[in-house]
Amino acid sequence: MGTQSSDISAALNEALAALESADTPEGVRSLVSQVTGKKGSLGSLKSSLGSVVDVEERKKVGAAINEALSRLAEAADARLTVLSNAELLRVIGADRVDVTERALKSDVAARLGRTHLVTQATERLEDVFIGLGFQIAEGPEVESDFYNFEALNMPPSHPARSMWDTLFVDQDPQGSVLLRTHTSPVQIRVMQEWPPPIYAIMPGRVFRRDTPDATHMPVFHQIEGMVIDRNITFADLAGTIEAFTKAFFGSAFTSRLRPSYFPFTEPSAEFDIRRPDGSWIELGGCGMMHPRVIRAGGLDPDEWSGFAFGFGIDRMAKERHGVADLRDMYSNDVRFLEQFP
Ligand code: PHE
Repeated sequence: MGTQSSDISAALNEALAALESADTPEGVRSLVSQVTGKKGSLGSLKSSLGSVVDVEERKKVGAAINEALSRLAEAADARLTVLSNAELLRVIGADRVDVTERALKSDVAARLGRTHLVTQATERLEDVFIGLGFQIAEGPEVESDFYNFEALNMPPSHPARSMWDTLFVDQDPQGSVLLRTHTSPVQIRVMQEWPPPIYAIMPGRVFRRDTPDATHMPVFHQIEGMVIDRNITFADLAGTIEAFTKAFFGSAFTSRLRPSYFPFTEPSAEFDIRRPDGSWIELGGCGMMHPRVIRAGGLDPDEWSGFAFGFGIDRMAKERHGVADLRDMYSNDVRFLEQFP
């Protein structure tokens, strides 16, 4: 019986099918050596070549067998690649760490992060003022002299500038760029951008050339409030401060206003909060918007009037939580921070 090309392709197809079900590299290698070995389907066809008498026929059959052998070798390589990729994926999968996984065993306390005291206070303040109908605005921390002082009714060398120990940015012309000393510059920016009437609060970070102590930090936070509308009176200011005091601290707290001075408000006041035990905390400044400030914001002070207030958020957080020293709030000591869930 002569070697038919159909025998070769049948042997090849059988070997290829067996390859597909070999599921280890060893399985692939032993299958190949078995099929191509002396007693294997392709190997035995090769050794029977010698019995083909016709030279042309022998060449043809030989070429067909070699072709089948190289196709088998290619298929074996491809199968080995598939198997090693699968193995790699398995190893990666087994080593996978689920970074979102929380410790579930009851003896391992899950250590969840939480927002900082000052962030908590800011968010509470925002909630209270949003409830009173205010919108939130923000301005840049690096400011120009114009917004921080001049537009707030403090022309160059106005003596009131010394109320704020200013950190300047080393940029020419010297003195023209600074770290904002209060959130009041945002009043001007909001008036320039928002059409009145305006009910806005403006929380943010402010900077002063101060040595840290229990009640002062060179970097701290303020929240500014501003109302611009028609026929706004001092009674609206006092009523807003009182409403906010009760909403933030609780109904046992009240507020009072004391005469004071700020260049950007007229009249101006300092406002204090009265604790249930009768003691007072100084909280911030406020007053009726000065006509020059309204004009600097691009509005007509004969048509629009308003009030503004500003106070320190860090002090409020300190007060609410009975923290003795402001510096503790910025020590990054997790034992301190964890006391305030
Ligand atoms: N910007 C003032 C300060 O930092 C506080 C203030 C704001 C006073 C708004 C009056 C009106 O001291």
